[in-house]
Amino acid sequence: MDNNVLILDFGSQYTQLIARRVRELNIFCEIKPYNKVPSDLDSYKAVILSGSPFSVRAEDAPHPDLSNIRGKKPLLGVCYGAQYLAHFSGGSVEKSNTREYGRANLSSVESEHSFLKGITIGSQVWMSHADTIKKLPENAKLLASTHDVENAAFKFDGEETYGIQFHPEVYHSTDGKQVLENFLVHIAGVAQTWTPDAFVDATVNNLKEKIGNDKVILGLSGGVDSTVAAVLLHKAIGKNLHCIFVNNGLLRKNEFEDVLKQYEGMGLNVKGVDASARFLDALAGESDPEAKRKIIGRVFIEVFDDESHLVEDAKWLAQGTIYPDVIESVSATGGPSATIKSHHNVGGLPDFMKLKVVEPLRMLFKDEVRRVGKSMEVGDERLGRHPFPGPGLAIRILGDITREKVAILQEVDHIFIQGLRDWGLYDKVWQAGAMLLPVNSVGVMGDERTYEKCVALRAVESTDGMTADWVNLPYEFLQKTSNDIINKVPGVNRVVYDISSKPPATIEWE
Ligand code: XMP
Repeated sequence: MDNNVLILDFGSQYTQLIARRVRELNIFCEIKPYNKVPSDLDSYKAVILSGSPFSVRAEDAPHPDLSNIRGKKPLLGVCYGAQYLAHFSGGSVEKSNTREYGRANLSSVESEHSFLKGITIGSQVWMSHADTIKKLPENAKLLASTHDVENAAFKFDGEETYGIQFHPEVYHSTDGKQVLENFLVHIAGVAQTWTPDAFVDATVNNLKEKIGNDKVILGLSGGVDSTVAAVLLHKAIGKNLHCIFVNNGLLRKNEFEDVLKQYEGMGLNVKGVDASARFLDALAGESDPEAKRKIIGRVFIEVFDDESHLVEDAKWLAQGTIYPDVIESVSATGGPSATIKSHHNVGGLPDFMKLKVVEPLRMLFKDEVRRVGKSMEVGDERLGRHPFPGPGLAIRILGDITREKVAILQEVDHIFIQGLRDWGLYDKVWQAGAMLLPVNSVGVMGDERTYEKCVALRAVESTDGMTADWVNLPYEFLQKTSNDIINKVPGVNRVVYDISSKPPATIEWE
């Protein structure tokens, strides 16, 4: 990790995207809040300043001391970052009076300069700013302009310090990745060594050294993160990794048995614990969504604690935490605020939480977790799996939960998900599932009147679950699925398809 790039975050919504683009160049990078510049900068080969919702002219705007960086390391300011460099070097930054949001095209560009090599007039860039650099500092040279933004790219004389007003990290900046590559690879000389294979080698060695002959406990969920974390640890410490896979009785049909078999097939030392009855008994009669979540969380901790006691002399707890969970976020309304996970007070902790924590994926983005999994030959069945909520079908059964309702929903969900697979639609959907509604409606089957349950199908596209839109599934598919469900699942006589986006709806119904 000594070929590292530092991204200083000023609170832009795009900061993580900068990091993702840099990682796509096979270059490692870290995001730090602007007011926590690391004191030891040796391992950083270059620094990028992010955008920000602030105006550099505002008194409470981020104004970090860059004296250990400026002129000493290659430095690139993006949007606010560029304005910050210009403003404090004698340039002038003012409120823009033309619309500077969205697509723009370069109207002049110094393509001969190594910073903009391969970039030509007409190249599309993405702008998103309220202030603009009206005048460059005396010691800065203009490198590119758009029709509305004269100072779109510039360089300071005598130092490898650059500013760009547009956002190279956004896909709409069609050559944005090239600009980042020019800066990082050709100007800063950062080696492109951050590959999944290199990550696996380094992490396995590191885990071996850190853990030695200790025993480690890990809770598998069937999801991508815990699976890849387990495979990495297994490579490092083999049978000393003790995996626990809990059936809470709210998984998809056959999921517990199928996934357990897959884990065993991967050589993992895994124990399947069927605690269905414990969860379902604890949930009986509870209809409130948050109360259901709390009960499931509590019972999970109890079950996991019991199971972890059976692993004698365990020293570590492994978790599948990934990078977006650990990046300290910068608040747009004040100083940087750390997103602190409410870690529990030491006294009343379950015993397994007193173990030392190891998080082998804590520097990876989700897409990198998948790539690392692929490089270790984890099958697509695990890596390509849709997200599935921890509380499982409990939050897809509206109202109280009974064994009978779980059984009905498992059948409905199975027909829907298998149908998506059979029709080649599964990978086109980010997440899909069925909801069992607390509604009975009248139907007719043969000559008989029925009064049975209604289910809603939901399929969404999304990148991170924060926003989502419903998927335009083919009518023929919906028709066949609806028929199959009503004909094959006793107790259901009506199927509806959810066409709400998030926001304002959520993906889950509870
Ligand atoms: P919503 O319903 O908030 O869901 O739009 C966004 C994403 O989060 C998942 N989700 C959960 N995952 N525990 C989880 O582990 C939960 O309580 C929970 N609630 C929602 C949901 O499946 C979707 O992917």
